Amino acid sequence: MSGAGSNLSALLEAATAADAPFEVVLVLSNHPGARALGIAAARGVAAEAMPVTRFGGDVVTRDVAMRDRLCAAGVELVVCAGYDRLLSAPLLERFHGAILNLHPSLLPAFAGGMHAVADALAAGVKVSGATVHLLEPGATDGGAIILQEAVPVSDDDDEASLHQRIHEAEWRILPRAVALWSQGRLRLEARRVRIVAPGEAGGAPPAAWEERP
Ligand code: GRF
Repeated sequence: MSGAGSNLSALLEAATAADAPFEVVLVLSNHPGARALGIAAARGVAAEAMPVTRFGGDVVTRDVAMRDRLCAAGVELVVCAGYDRLLSAPLLERFHGAILNLHPSLLPAFAGGMHAVADALAAGVKVSGATVHLLEPGATDGGAIILQEAVPVSDDDDEASLHQRIHEAEWRILPRAVALWSQGRLRLEARRVRIVAPGEAGGAPPAAWEERP
């Protein structure tokens, strides 16, 4: 997490449901001031800032420490919600098929970078939205799409108003995608993610695409 943490709040709220198939056990941020850290701590969830400056400015060293921290906490699925840096190989490889990313556009439109909402407005699109996808090494915002929700653009929208409605879509699809992953209900067929019924056999869930190192 790097941002305001509203998606973390949505996940924490969803995790309180009696039948929630997941729990949030650890929140990490690369920004010591990230609001997400306070939100997690207020709910009794372990939270830690891991800025690159703590690791001599070396991103790979920081990401190795993040990986080890995640593993020590027993994390099975990593969720990037507003994380504003690329993850490096040691983390990506350890959690292959087990990292979800959230992007404020209907991918593949407006992929890459942190300005998807402004870019959508500048392009004059009439519909934008939110996407949850699997993080694929080497393909920024390019991994297989799990869920999307469309958000109509109004003539009088500015970046804040459009992002607010995209956020509301994110708060719906992110907890749903985490639940589907946690229930083993995702199947990858070429680049398409198929959602199967609970307990349906056949195919491999994303975390088993390859042997984990
Ligand atoms: C979200 O819109 C996400 O799609 C983008 O950053 C924003 C994070 O919002 N990558 P928040 O910190 O969860 O409120």
